[in-house]
Amino acid sequence: MTNKLGLGTWQYGKHFWGDVKDDESLTIIKHAIDSEISLIDTAPVYGDGHSEEIVGKGIKGKRGKVFLATKCGLIHNQKGYFHDLTAESLEKELYLSLKRLQVDYLDLYQIHWPDINYPTDKAIETLLKFKEKELILNVGVCNLELKELSTLELLPELYSLQIKFSILEQDEQKPILDFCKSHKLVSLTYGAFEGGLLLDKYNSPEDIPQKSAKNFFYQGKNPKIWQNIQKIINEQKLLAKQKNTSLSKQILATTIEQSKASYSLIGCRTLNQLKENLSPL
Ligand SMILES: NC(=O)c1ccc[n+]([C@@H]2O[C@H](COP(=O)([O-])OP(=O)(O)OC[C@H]3O[C@@H](n4cnc5c(N)ncnc54)[C@H](OP(=O)(O)O)[C@@H]3O)[C@@H](O)[C@H]2O)c1
Repeated sequence: MTNKLGLGTWQYGKHFWGDVKDDESLTIIKHAIDSEISLIDTAPVYGDGHSEEIVGKGIKGKRGKVFLATKCGLIHNQKGYFHDLTAESLEKELYLSLKRLQVDYLDLYQIHWPDINYPTDKAIETLLKFKEKELILNVGVCNLELKELSTLELLPELYSLQIKFSILEQDEQKPILDFCKSHKLVSLTYGAFEGGLLLDKYNSPEDIPQKSAKNFFYQGKNPKIWQNIQKIINEQKLLAKQKNTSLSKQILATTIEQSKASYSLIGCRTLNQLKENLSPL
């Protein structure tokens, strides 16, 4: 299977991504579907359901052209973020996601993060029951390490694995993608731009907004990560110049080449960013 781009929609939840406008998010989703992108990835935790609501509006009238993926098991409420993979909670989450997305089935339902206090196999079993009822068509997992993935009893029932993969972490993450390939698991990768940090937006770590995904999730203020990112930016800028292409296209092409994943999810906060990222190879 050759690599395809998928649209990530964490940004459209608005939390942690700065200036995000609903109207523009909707335009991006529509433009993506009319371009080369069919897979759209969201999650209930992105903006406490707001991303799913925007995706639901964005795909209206185009459901047949979209491979719709959302996630479950990571919850946010007044107490903070926590995992809940119990059957009762997953069922409740599924119906809420279907409602927000305004659809009667999902193409892919993914366990967002493993929970050390709950067996992933047991959660997959619950999702397989949703599949029997045709509420979801495929079951996936995210963010499992190779040891966890390879020892799953229900591995043959899985459709996909979603993990982080960027030039920054290619060596650590490559074995798990090779495993997916040899076990015919579809692979989805996220974070090609390290949340935007690889796109040369900041002069120093202090410039990275404190309450942003670039800081708390992609760890841009960590001195070692900051240093490694600057090295990659310099190398990739040079290659982009040689090939007369943009930094984002260059980074995406390198990432896809390295990962050989089935899908690379890209987060685009603006329509111009999406247009820039299309056809990187
Ligand atoms: N399963 C999981 O646990 C998990 C975790 C993270 C993400 N994901 C999924 O994967 C998707 C992709 O990851 P991500 O969005 O976190 O990170 P990403 O794709 O590495 O970075 C997205 C950010 O890169 C910047 N960007 C993208 N194209 C650009 C361009 N052409 N020019 C300038 N800046 C550009 C934008 O930053 P600015 O905002 O600064 O403009 C954008 O918000 C998510 O949206 C989500 O659906 C899943």
